[in-house]
Amino acid sequence: MNKSPLEQFKDDISQRVSEYPQNQPLQSASKAFFDQIGVGKADYVYNFTWLGVPIIQIPQDLQALQEIIWEVKPDLIIEAGIAWGGTLVHSASMLAILEVCGEIEQGHVLGIDIDIRPHNKKMLAEHPLAKKITMLEGSSIDENIIAQVHQFAKNYKRIMVCLDSNHTHEHVLAELEAYAPLVSQGSYCMVGDTVIEDAPEGMVSQRPWGKGNNPKTAVWEYLKHLQQGQSLGVDGELLQFEIDHQIENKIVLTGSPDGFLRRY
Ligand SMILES: C[S@@+](CC[C@H](N)C(=O)[O-])C[C@H]1O[C@@H](n2cnc3c(N)ncnc32)[C@H](O)[C@@H]1O
Repeated sequence: MNKSPLEQFKDDISQRVSEYPQNQPLQSASKAFFDQIGVGKADYVYNFTWLGVPIIQIPQDLQALQEIIWEVKPDLIIEAGIAWGGTLVHSASMLAILEVCGEIEQGHVLGIDIDIRPHNKKMLAEHPLAKKITMLEGSSIDENIIAQVHQFAKNYKRIMVCLDSNHTHEHVLAELEAYAPLVSQGSYCMVGDTVIEDAPEGMVSQRPWGKGNNPKTAVWEYLKHLQQGQSLGVDGELLQFEIDHQIENKIVLTGSPDGFLRRY
């Protein structure tokens, strides 16, 4: 059967992107970029805003999130680690677009942060998308917060999770155990800053995380746990995730290598 032009376009992407990991000049250019953009060097991730709100992300990851959100069509996005709130507003804006397009009825974003600064609270409360955002203040691995998030999630059908708070192995592993079971089948858990594992020596200093102790090592351990056991999602179905390598390979520059986890 003949492929539609869009199917052909997508096949071309898969074909092209499958060659990227072996493309040494491309991978070297990406590594050279990462060697220069970090905290204390170019401080690149602090350059951006989303609909007026500072967002601490590499822009390519926002393109990846846009593609994922359009494909998954979640009605709830849970995010650990708010900072200024740019990613909350990014998610809220994507959900608003899904509503306008008639893809979902009503979407909401639930953010959690241990320390929501008064000026950030005010800015988010005054933002035009404020009604789509709820914030909880406390540690994302605190029992009460986890219980509140699970209670909140009961009102939604299709859930996606983004973890971008404390980047230690122990913390992210606890977040994965707490929130990955909420992810709907076919949806994603995005884990931020897994790139810490690949950062050049000395780039991540004066932080409790670093090589061997970061979100990527937590992802690896979590996936191993899932393979060894028989964990269930809150829907009662077997909980299984795979790393979506195509999405990270195609954007080339990502803060989340091995961090786009798709529930299947
Ligand atoms: C990297 S920033 C988040 C950036 C944000 N996701 C964005 O895209 O703009 C990390 C945030 O995690 C928060 N944080 C640190 N430890 C936490 C914890 N135990 N629970 C929840 N949030 C925490 C910090 O207060 C900080 O605002």
